Amino acid sequence: MKTQSLVSISNLYKSYESAANPVHVLDNINLEIAAGERIAIVGKSGSGKTTLINLITGIDAPTSGEILIQDQSITALNQNALAQWRGKNVGIVFQFFQLLPTLTILENIILPMDLCKQFSRKQRSARALELLARVGIAEHANKLPAALSGGQQQRAAIARALANNPPLIVADEPTGNLDSVTSNEILTLFGELAREGKTLIAVSHERDISQHVDRVIHLKDGAIVGVTP
Ligand SMILES: Nc1ncnc2c1ncn2[C@@H]1O[C@H](COP(=O)(O)OP(=O)(O)O)[C@@H](O)[C@H]1O
Ligand SMILES: [Mg+2]
Repeated sequence: MKTQSLVSISNLYKSYESAANPVHVLDNINLEIAAGERIAIVGKSGSGKTTLINLITGIDAPTSGEILIQDQSITALNQNALAQWRGKNVGIVFQFFQLLPTLTILENIILPMDLCKQFSRKQRSARALELLARVGIAEHANKLPAALSGGQQQRAAIARALANNPPLIVADEPTGNLDSVTSNEILTLFGELAREGKTLIAVSHERDISQHVDRVIHLKDGAIVGVTP
């Protein structure tokens, strides 16, 4: 069945088995996200934000329920197919950037293109440089990550997330390790990307996140308790 949503989540549950009894972490999540939409997920620590994000990227599997992304049921894919799918369809940005420390910034951006082989070997470094220019750090291309500030490293991580031109960008507290001015710059950059057609799902603790997104999803104890506006 064709949906209009880029992401369609239905009847999603996640529990973890523990010695005593299962811990219910996500409790019947239903959510439709349109292509080009910018979504923030907010909620207290432990409310299930990271768990939800990890299910959307296929890093973790739900206990039950379904996630369709561009009409692909990601819960139906095996590990290999999922890794392939993720490489092409989802760009992931982490709180602590997770750039490879022994590769230059440019090499960090080229790496996911080498893995997915959607762009020819010749195209890859030119594309990486274009992406670094897009996020405003082209002059740092040949440095190691440690030589860059936190904000610059997060810009590099965003360029890496864009490397294979995925429709969906997912970020778990991308500004959690940045000062407020830098956070604002990074959120503005995410907003611009969405205007260029990307769909964005970001977990955030920023009080003013609503300025940068179209909808804010409020999670509490693993359930959606509100959507604003
Ligand atoms: N692998 C796991 N095993 C057991 N419990 C877990 C596991 N991962 C997360 N949890 C629990 O699930 C709940 C939600 O965690 P998480 O999704 O990381 O929340 P958030 O990102 O909102 O802080 C927490 O109570 C956490 O302790
Ligand atoms: Mg978390």
